[in-house]
Amino acid sequence: MTASTVAVYDAIATSYAARRAEMPPRLVQLAQRALAIVRRSGADPIAIADLGCGAGRDLAFFEREQPSAVTVGIDASAAMLEAARPRVHGRLVEGDLRQLPLDTGSQHLAWACASLLHLPKQQLPAALAEVRRVLAPGGVLAVTMKAGTTEGFEPNRSETWAEPRIFARYQDGELATALEEAGFSRISVSPPATDERGETWLHAIARVPDAPAAAR
Ligand SMILES: C[S@@+](CC[C@H](N)C(=O)[O-])C[C@H]1O[C@@H](n2cnc3c(N)ncnc32)[C@H](O)[C@@H]1O
Repeated sequence: MTASTVAVYDAIATSYAARRAEMPPRLVQLAQRALAIVRRSGADPIAIADLGCGAGRDLAFFEREQPSAVTVGIDASAAMLEAARPRVHGRLVEGDLRQLPLDTGSQHLAWACASLLHLPKQQLPAALAEVRRVLAPGGVLAVTMKAGTTEGFEPNRSETWAEPRIFARYQDGELATALEEAGFSRISVSPPATDERGETWLHAIARVPDAPAAAR
């Protein structure tokens, strides 16, 4: 299921990159909120991982906002990574959200924008545990998911010639619970917000608990 969805991204990479060149205000706001939390933690340089980075739009944003950041983009689609290459200075690595090619505790900010929604719901707990593994104590996860209750293949409304992709949709309480059960704290999940295309999104920020004082 996931493989066929990634194959769709391989097929649509060029048009996807062109259609979504600009980050919409709702995502700029979320990214700035997440980055502000990490800046306050004093991490320097800030390590930022874009999980399911696609064509690199958001990673490029983080690199502009925080030029000293050490950035990495992970995606399972080689064609999406190729589309990202001209936009991004940092490393781009082909890899799976369920087994991140990143060291334990190596990241301060994990950005998972419209990517975890492609995993079957039953795989979300393991994927969130994997995100938690790669984040340092106090690290921040920002995640967006499509809102709703369904799970299954959905037709592509932009690239109408492409095959359907699998989407798992979440309700705000459901996403908050999944984050909590994965061990995240200080969780905030927005109520569903409708974007410029009429799609409804959840935007969430959560943190890995700080290291106990004695262990610092
Ligand atoms: C909707 S796009 C979002 C891309 C980018 N985050 C953005 O917001 O523009 C979803 C991305 O997740 C990637 N993806 C889907 N399943 C994945 C998996 N299991 N492991 C890694 N990447 C995956 C796809 O290849 C695609 O680039």
